[in-house]
Amino acid sequence: MSERGGQSIGVFDSGIGGLSVLKALRADMPHENFIYIADSGHAPYGERDTAHVLARSRAIAQYLVSHNVKALVIACNTATAAAIHLLRSEYPGLALIGVEPALKPAVALSSTGRIGVFATRSTLCSAKFQALLASQAANMTFVLQPCDGLAHAIERSAPTGDTSETIALCARHISAAGIFGTENDQIDTLVLGCTHYPLASEQLRALLGPGVRLLDNGEAVARQTRQRLPACLRAANAPPGRVSLFTTGDPQSLQSAARRWLNLSASVDLLSI
Ligand code: DGL
Repeated sequence: MSERGGQSIGVFDSGIGGLSVLKALRADMPHENFIYIADSGHAPYGERDTAHVLARSRAIAQYLVSHNVKALVIACNTATAAAIHLLRSEYPGLALIGVEPALKPAVALSSTGRIGVFATRSTLCSAKFQALLASQAANMTFVLQPCDGLAHAIERSAPTGDTSETIALCARHISAAGIFGTENDQIDTLVLGCTHYPLASEQLRALLGPGVRLLDNGEAVARQTRQRLPACLRAANAPPGRVSLFTTGDPQSLQSAARRWLNLSASVDLLSI
């Protein structure tokens, strides 16, 4: 195995949300080793100013690069919008993959032409998202819903499994966005533009009913990551990859989340960066 093949892929988010991306990455590249950092000690990102998100993204990227990762996945829409340009200029040789709301697939799939976008306030206000929005077909209507508090509620449900706060917030944001369904003028497609939200897809689906399509970008990010690394992936006969979990917040929370959503039993180390 080449030395690069042996290196890990670094993944980070403001918290447990990036596990939804890590799940897709592991499914797509089961032989790869991953280092996952949940920056829960400095979350949520989505309701903080850009300078905070930028500073945290730089600190985490620096840590992962110093641990010789062969690729860095920003498994956070908010951090991608705030920091990917700067990180690309600081690490020009690194395979750096970000995540952004799945507007394009939603346009291709929507029959009513009315698409909901749930994301953090910071993502929706970012220049990167506004440019993505402006590049979509003019005959589509996008209903943008900043889901204040939702990522935090999902985060808090991890250790206990109590989703009552998550359900209440999902219901509030759904009703603020409008009428969902498959009839004319109804929102038939909901883009989950924050990596925490797929972890609440069961609750969202129960509230929205079976006709509304939920879309996230986890699988697309996994594919893109694999395509960036053809020469330095681990061999197909290599043993299953390992996942190393780190957090700047509560290790118990990340450990429960990894068990609940990834069926992964792994210890979690506390990181001070
Ligand atoms: N998971 C992050 C995202 O995709 C944000 C959650 C937060 O507000 O920290 O935007």
